[in-house]
Amino acid sequence: MKLTQDEKDLLSGKKGEIVAKLMDLLVKMGDARGAEEMVDVYSVHASTVILEFTGYPGVELMEEVRDTGVKFKAFTTVDPISIDIEDWKTLGLSKDYAELQLRSVKAFGECGGVGEYTCTPWLVGNVPRRGQHAAWVETSAVIFANSMLGARTNRHVDPSALAVAICGKTPKYGFHLDENRRGEVLVEVKTELAEIIDYTALGAYVASKFGPKVYVFEGIPQGVTMESLIRMSSAMSTWGNVAMYHIVGVTPDAPTREAAFGGNKIQEHLVVGRNELNTIYDQFPRAKKGKKLVVIGCPHCTLVDLQKIARLIDGKKVHESVDFWALSSRTNKILARQNGWLQSIEKAGGRIVADMCWFCSPSLDFFKFESVATDSAKAAITARQRKRVSTLASTEDCIDIAIKGE
Ligand code: F3S
Repeated sequence: MKLTQDEKDLLSGKKGEIVAKLMDLLVKMGDARGAEEMVDVYSVHASTVILEFTGYPGVELMEEVRDTGVKFKAFTTVDPISIDIEDWKTLGLSKDYAELQLRSVKAFGECGGVGEYTCTPWLVGNVPRRGQHAAWVETSAVIFANSMLGARTNRHVDPSALAVAICGKTPKYGFHLDENRRGEVLVEVKTELAEIIDYTALGAYVASKFGPKVYVFEGIPQGVTMESLIRMSSAMSTWGNVAMYHIVGVTPDAPTREAAFGGNKIQEHLVVGRNELNTIYDQFPRAKKGKKLVVIGCPHCTLVDLQKIARLIDGKKVHESVDFWALSSRTNKILARQNGWLQSIEKAGGRIVADMCWFCSPSLDFFKFESVATDSAKAAITARQRKRVSTLASTEDCIDIAIKGE
């Protein structure tokens, strides 16, 4: 790979041993993928401090990096962690576990990372603009960045995201290149997408058909909401490893069908109607008995989601067999309190869980939930992987399940 003088300096150890090691990792990644050069990166979304995944070695690694005095070059946010920083006790987590988690987030912050733990980083200021190179982890965030923001990122895992955060460089291959961002599969939507949940089912259906391709949708209305697209994106990333799609007339790289395909031949042509969406809904039975978790916010809720939940649940009572969690960022929880939405949710017996990923925390096992109801196709499939009966339902129906207990 052709390196600039600045990049050679990073590799040579002039900027410290840890920088040299991480730059070496990026060069090897690039060489393996045939990259010809590096690009500058200003936006990183990492996962480097999720205790449930990294274990103790991850805490030590983050502290070692911090102790070298190195600072992140890129603006760096991080995925949800394994605890709610203010409420870990009531979520069944031990003091030792919480302290370990807090050690790694402290080290992350001291390296210059942003202390906001969320899988919707664009809602908290990490917003690479169209055409800008980024390095994000979190499959549901990567697909949103490529498709909706028009930014350019591959699907990173740590430590490569950490390496990019520190070096400010990433090898130019994959979704950094125009030719890999062009449409491959045409999807004609021939049914009304009446509710947000229909976007979830649409994403799951399409992605499970042809897997990791670049999809071009036609028939999605121009007024589609961000909340619908967050759910569709996460469903596509989970059900088919998809990292990018276009919506003609909606996403920034697709003013027309021709622009979305960019000269590519259409490889496959899918027509999606109500019957196709029903094939997804039919895969999820309804649990009647046992302890249930109703969870909204996988990916983390927007303010629109929290306002909607508060309105739906206001004046009602969550059933004794159910725990109701709305997951979101700390910032959104503060704003929910400021607007009275948190109070409505808590009065009904639910909670807003901040900072945390429900799936990356021992809380799920602590509460011994037998089933999970959710409006997210990502959460529905991950719950099933954790051997829970899983129900996919609209936000309205999820609230109804929480109230009635079935
Ligand atoms: Fe976010 Fe965890 Fe779901 S990272 S997308 S809440 S599995």
